[in-house]
Amino acid sequence: MANVAFIGLGVMGYPMAGHLKEKGGHQVTVYNRTAEKAEKWVAQYGGSMRRTPAEAADGADFVFCCVGNDDDLRAVTTGENGVLSGMKKGAILIDNTTASAEVARELAEACAAKGCGFIDAPVSGGQAGAENGVLTVMCGGEEETFAKAKPVIDAYARMVGLMGPAGSGQLTKMVNQICIAGLVQGLSEGIHFGKKAGLDIEKVIDVISKGAAGSWQMESRYKTMNKGEYDFGFAVDWMRKDLSIVLSEARRNGANLPVTAVVDQFYSEVQAMGGKRWDTSSLLARLEK
Ligand SMILES: NC(=O)c1ccc[n+]([C@@H]2O[C@H](COP(=O)([O-])OP(=O)(O)OC[C@H]3O[C@@H](n4cnc5c(N)ncnc54)[C@H](OP(=O)(O)O)[C@@H]3O)[C@@H](O)[C@H]2O)c1
Repeated sequence: MANVAFIGLGVMGYPMAGHLKEKGGHQVTVYNRTAEKAEKWVAQYGGSMRRTPAEAADGADFVFCCVGNDDDLRAVTTGENGVLSGMKKGAILIDNTTASAEVARELAEACAAKGCGFIDAPVSGGQAGAENGVLTVMCGGEEETFAKAKPVIDAYARMVGLMGPAGSGQLTKMVNQICIAGLVQGLSEGIHFGKKAGLDIEKVIDVISKGAAGSWQMESRYKTMNKGEYDFGFAVDWMRKDLSIVLSEARRNGANLPVTAVVDQFYSEVQAMGGKRWDTSSLLARLEK
């Protein structure tokens, strides 16, 4: 059992912190910018809450963050009253935010300067994966730090892998998002075509999902796509944030991502249709408008 702090009780962080408490059996102290969510979490799981990230991190062996983007992450870590001003020597900061590789390297350096460890640990598996404690976690950092952090991360994960030095977890998450972007557009075009061709989409997917076209997106999203339901899941706004991180990294490393770039533009059209918070499978709505 360890002393754990968790910063950011959003759609993902709230259940992840819950698994650290219930499944991991750790002592969990939480912080959330909107205090009501922290109060609700403590009422549901026990544990305790603090008024700043620094206070929550005080005395913790492991400090988790799961906030929005690079700037939010800087605010709760190296900013005023951020976790780094409260963390003790030897503590490990584990960041579950989907952010840039650059900010991960920045935080690894800031942690090292304080005698602390750092792991960038973005996740995949969505809200359901977080609620069921079966996320895939892509980590970057030093092997020794990872070996200490992994048994704790296991409380909310099904798969936890060390991909390389600091930033490698975020780079792996970028590969994940590149693969999803093109795939969801292909799935949308397939369903759109099937409807225009007068086929029964339920029957079509039942058959083709068992063959080479099958995917998590197909299995988990075709029913709602077929019904035009998008008010759930992984928000288009978040996907555009992720693709913007991907496209800046590609500009740096010279990778060619023509399909990813165009899908990013398609998502901007979904946003203009009012779909900022719609699930990423709403690329189909753009084809049908
Ligand atoms: N949702 C998914 O399916 C999914 C899947 C994989 C990865 N992710 C990634 O996981 C991260 C969190 O996603 P989410 O869906 O949990 O988001 P969310 O529900 O919007 O929650 C964001 C959390 O971060 C806090 N926060 C944001 N900016 C802050 C700041 N400047 N200072 C302090 N706290 C701040 C929010 O506090 P308040 O409550 O006060 O707003 C909230 O607790 C994102 O990087 C996202 O890309 C999400």
